[in-house]
Amino acid sequence: MADQVLKVVDQRTKLAYDLPLFKGAIRSMDLRQIKTGPEDFGVVGYDPAFLNTAACQSSITFIDGDKGILRYRGYPIEQLAEKCSFLEVAYLILNGELPTEGQLENWVDDIKHHTMLHEKTKNFLESFNHDAHPMGMFISCVAALSTIYPESRNVLDPENRKLQIRRLIGKVPTIAAYTYRHSLGYPYVYPDNDLNYSENFMNMLWRMVEPKYRANPVLSRALEILFILHADHEQNCSANVMRAAGSSQADPYVSVAAAAAALSGPLHGGANEEVLKMLDEIGTKDRVPAYIEKVKAGHVKLMGFGHRVYKNYDPRARIIKWAADQVFVATGRNPKLDIAMELERVALEDEYFIKRKLYPNVDFYSGIIYQALGFNPNLFTVLFAIPRTVGWLAQWQEMLEDPEQKIARPRQIYTGYDARELVPIGKRVAQVAALAR
Ligand code: CMC
Repeated sequence: MADQVLKVVDQRTKLAYDLPLFKGAIRSMDLRQIKTGPEDFGVVGYDPAFLNTAACQSSITFIDGDKGILRYRGYPIEQLAEKCSFLEVAYLILNGELPTEGQLENWVDDIKHHTMLHEKTKNFLESFNHDAHPMGMFISCVAALSTIYPESRNVLDPENRKLQIRRLIGKVPTIAAYTYRHSLGYPYVYPDNDLNYSENFMNMLWRMVEPKYRANPVLSRALEILFILHADHEQNCSANVMRAAGSSQADPYVSVAAAAAALSGPLHGGANEEVLKMLDEIGTKDRVPAYIEKVKAGHVKLMGFGHRVYKNYDPRARIIKWAADQVFVATGRNPKLDIAMELERVALEDEYFIKRKLYPNVDFYSGIIYQALGFNPNLFTVLFAIPRTVGWLAQWQEMLEDPEQKIARPRQIYTGYDARELVPIGKRVAQVAALAR
């Protein structure tokens, strides 16, 4: 057992402590016993941005960042992307096992019965400017569903949770499509339950006057693969927000809205839109080396590169490159692919990127394929949010069922003033740099 204990000696008191190792981790609460005296609060861990802190135990997604491995519930992402439908993978992520044919049929049927939006949702959308960013509209509409389904607040009831999970998975593509139609001033298209998840989404985006929308099977399969690749990614920034918001027992609509807000930033899901802007700015292959120099000088980031966990090729980026080839046969090659591949080639041979282990991440190639599929760049992050809703909900459910989880409430190391006397307003002298930081 000796190797399952970490021995710590406090040089201040010369006392030794045995900290049990649990799955390679120490429990931060065990540090509290290390004190200099009864008045001392005890040692805490300081870990800004959670660089080395496990905030939960999870059995949903496994990533080996050094080897470039991603698995949902034990299944390699490559096999899921090749052989499954998105809703099959959603079932796996949420329930832990792949469905049988019968279970899948019921699950798909359930989701299809929740694709319609309350008509009031259109009123929310109408209040947005025509040029409102779709991600802002998406976040707001998802949050607004909380007012339509007030019973969703009963988050401790597992049956109620199941219903809200189905509703959210059914409705997020409809909300996403409506934000797009709103931007263009087109009438909203109702869901078509004859179609599968991605085909129906394409129908709601692009059907005009034709009585029935028929998706190109190559393109709808590519979208399905993209949805599978984006469905979950363990404790990323937005999953962490979902767990933190949900830990206060907030309802799942406002919690998903909070997670989507975290996703929208350019360092997270917003990176896919930024990659397209970057490729536009570079313009031609011959300007790639100059851009790389700008990145190395610290003037800009190479968007779509780098990852907190992957220190190897992101396996999702590899699958997207493969799917892009299939799409380009149907749509013609997106010329931005050549610039992206040249950027990747130059970066991967450069000492700056090699030393920091910076590789393309999922967002590097996803924008190029989304554009080839016919999506506007400002919709890219919404396309990420649709499938990630499944991951957020799985993380939320796991958090609520975990007896060790409580309201998320980190500690701080206070760096401000000690107690001081308030000076009446007439006697105050203006302070420069009044705050310590
Ligand atoms: N371009 C240039 N330099 C970079 C980049 C980049 N894209 N990413 C990291 N670095 C450098 C960074 O400046 C730092 O250098 P130094 O050691 O000299 O200070 C070093 O690499 C380590 O980076 P870090 O910022 O400490 O890494 P992090 O784990 O905090 O950040 C990241 C991860 C994804 C936020 C970051 O790599 C980044 O900003 N990438 C660009 C945005 C992007 O593509 N985001 C999508 C992430 S994957 C999908 C998702 O999460 O949605």
